[in-house]
Amino acid sequence: MVSRLRMRPRQRLVDLGCGTGGAGLWLARALGAELDGIDIPPVAVSLADRRAHQFLPAGRATFHVGTLGETGLDSASADGVICADAFSFAPDGRAALEELRRIPRPGARALITSPDRHPASSKPWDRVGLELEAEGERPHVPGMWRRLYRLWADHEDELRNVLGEAQAERMIGEARRRAPEMDYRRFSVATVRRPA
Ligand SMILES: C[S@@+](CC[C@H](N)C(=O)[O-])C[C@H]1O[C@@H](n2cnc3c(N)ncnc32)[C@H](O)[C@@H]1O
Repeated sequence: MVSRLRMRPRQRLVDLGCGTGGAGLWLARALGAELDGIDIPPVAVSLADRRAHQFLPAGRATFHVGTLGETGLDSASADGVICADAFSFAPDGRAALEELRRIPRPGARALITSPDRHPASSKPWDRVGLELEAEGERPHVPGMWRRLYRLWADHEDELRNVLGEAQAERMIGEARRRAPEMDYRRFSVATVRRPA
C-alpha cells in the first residue's frame, strides 16, 4: 500500500471508513503523511483520535464523523486515499464512488480493499472517471481471520468477562459463521487513480 500510494512526506492521506484508526494511522506513520479519517460512529472517531499520538506527532491526524457518500472533505484535497474493508458497506455505492473520484487531487491514487466475494476490479470505477491502475490479492487475509477467530474461541470465557455477554456472543457467533467462509473468500486490493 505504501508503494502504491506514491505519496511524499507531509502530503495528505484520507482514510474512508477509518474505524478506530487502524490502517490509516499505520500508513500515515510509514509515509510521514498527515491523516484525515472519516467514519460514522462518533465512538470510533474519538477512539481513533485518542490513539493518534501513538503513531504521529500532535496535530498530524484528524478524525471526523461522515459517511462514504458524504465525507464533508474538500474536492481534490487528498494526495492519497484508502478505504480499508469499508467500501462494500456503503448503502449508496454510486455516491461512495463519486466521493472517491472527488476527494483525490488529479493524479492521486485511492486504494480500496475488498472483503467481499467479488474482486475489487469488478467495481465500476470507470463510470465515475477513475482509472484502475492495479489489482492484487491479499492471500494472507483468510489465514489472519482464521487465527483471530480461533483466538476468540479459545478465549471465550475471557471475552465474556471483559466485554460482556452481548458483545462476546456477537463475536463468537461471527467466528462460527465466518471461519468456514475463509476457505473460499477472495480478498483483494484495487489501486485506482484520478486522471491527471
Ligand atoms: C471492517 S471495518 C474497517 C475499519 C478500518 N478501515 C480498518 O481497516 O481497521 C468497516 C468500517 O466501515 C465503517 N463504515 C460502514 N459503513 C460506512 C459508511 N457508509 N460510511 C463510512 N464508514 C462506514 C464502519 O463503521 C467500520 O468502521
